[in-house]
Amino acid sequence: MTATRRTFARCLALLPALLLVAAPAPARDGKALAQAGIATAHPLATAAGQEMLAAGGNAFDAAVAISATLAVVEPFASGLGGGAFWLLHEARSGRQVFVDAREVAPGAATPGMYLDAAGNPVPGSTLTGPLAAGIPGQPAGLVHLAKRYGKLPLGQLLAPAIRHAEEGVAVTRGMVLGLQFRQSAARQSPEFAARFYPGGRPLAEGELLRQPELAATLRRLVRGGFDGYYRGETARLLVDGVRSSGGIWTQDDLAAYRVVEREPVRAVVGGVTVVSAPPPSAGGIALVNTLNMLSGFDRPALDPATRAHLNIEVLRRAFRDRAMLLGDPDFVSIPVARLLSPDYAAGQATTIRLDRATPSDGLAGPGTTVAGGPQTTHFSVIDRAGNRVAGTLSINTFYGAAFMPPGTGVILNNEMDDFVIKPGVANGFALVGTDANAIAPGKRMLSSMAPTFLESPRGVAVLGTPGGSRIISMVLLATLAWIDGAEAPAMVALKRYHHQYQPDVVAFETGAFSDADQAALRTLGHRLEASARPYGNMQVVTWDRATGKVEAASDPRGGGDVTVY
Ligand code: DON
Repeated sequence: MTATRRTFARCLALLPALLLVAAPAPARDGKALAQAGIATAHPLATAAGQEMLAAGGNAFDAAVAISATLAVVEPFASGLGGGAFWLLHEARSGRQVFVDAREVAPGAATPGMYLDAAGNPVPGSTLTGPLAAGIPGQPAGLVHLAKRYGKLPLGQLLAPAIRHAEEGVAVTRGMVLGLQFRQSAARQSPEFAARFYPGGRPLAEGELLRQPELAATLRRLVRGGFDGYYRGETARLLVDGVRSSGGIWTQDDLAAYRVVEREPVRAVVGGVTVVSAPPPSAGGIALVNTLNMLSGFDRPALDPATRAHLNIEVLRRAFRDRAMLLGDPDFVSIPVARLLSPDYAAGQATTIRLDRATPSDGLAGPGTTVAGGPQTTHFSVIDRAGNRVAGTLSINTFYGAAFMPPGTGVILNNEMDDFVIKPGVANGFALVGTDANAIAPGKRMLSSMAPTFLESPRGVAVLGTPGGSRIISMVLLATLAWIDGAEAPAMVALKRYHHQYQPDVVAFETGAFSDADQAALRTLGHRLEASARPYGNMQVVTWDRATGKVEAASDPRGGGDVTVY
């Protein structure tokens, strides 16, 4: 193994120095791109983005129109009741920024708010009903993006979303799946039930879903900007609805919400510049840390089972740090520089053995991993000027808290479940953590969402996916595929597997491992668990520096759509 690592170090040393510096951004080459590309999880969202580009808008305008449209056409995944991360690259300046519109805990939230008198978690309390909801960030984020980075007026950007909410959209299979899953939860929200379970049965595929209250809420957002949601009528309706059903939001919580612009995580690994989500997401740190660990090995020389073993081992270690150290950077001190450093990764890598799995022990024993489906959503855009957006938007699990404050059409998130409600108690994605991610008023809950740019002399890739904790392993596998030369369609189609430290289990999609590789991984000591169904919904746009070609690909597992023009 030491020899393998040395071989890789020699390979790295032979790389021209040029490969080790950050790749220049497209627009800094001084040329416009021949094409623009969009990949989203729904054809109407892709069309909304294209409509803005055709109207003279930039990628940031497209991002606002896409995000707002997804709120209407994928009501199970994201929306005005949830949060969002947008990673931006501004071609003119080369500036890259992470727009953090993550939900925050309400002012009256306390660390023990989901525990009973005996200190035990109250089942379902972080997942269903208004107590499960953080203060939404996406509406503020839309206004922020449009104002600071867009060229078109907010009314024009939200017009497609308003149109679809008012005139109705066809119910998709994804919507129905989520409705089946949330049927019993829906009983506690008559407004949500009336809209999505007319006559007590879930809407069927192909039926028309009209959302007039949501259209009115979007209109108030257009008219009032930030105040059109966080103050005035919408705020009143939201707070009344939440409080009359056991929630704790106040008008002040809404008025105090702020979008935060953060420096993205940025690192050069083996000639590829990785730009990704900083805390309060674990995504960027885990991605860079795993890539740094892998850079000590000669991956191409390894057989497929050993390569997979190595990926599992680096994920195990990165997820351990996620559990121990990460949370909202405005509340806890995180050793980001250390976690991103190659030296730190080299130290971690010395504990990896190629001939056996490292048991995760420590925290709770092995449990069952929870599949991340298509709830939450991602889109990727590159415009012809070279501006880029990777956006991951979420209300957390299917239909969030399954709660709609009367008169708003807004489905509230259940993102509070991303906090640690008690050390050692796993959340909906079977993730454990520490006080770093404990609940506190105004604090952002730790995320795994990882909107990402990859930049190298080859070109650029813009990528991301939903999938809860599995986002991190999906983005890592797609990144490795791009580094190894894969094009966008292969990146999104790639069969997936996942490890997250605890539970000490490797989850895998059918086809990810051959029978022989499964046997080899078991022999190394891994516990394998086949996923019941495929997971994730990755959207990728790439730009090839040599040919100028833009390519967009939408995950074959989802119902998304792309455009390149
Ligand atoms: O922020 C997070 O990490 C989660 N709330 C994302 C949830 C998600 O991707 C659900 N998808 N399956």
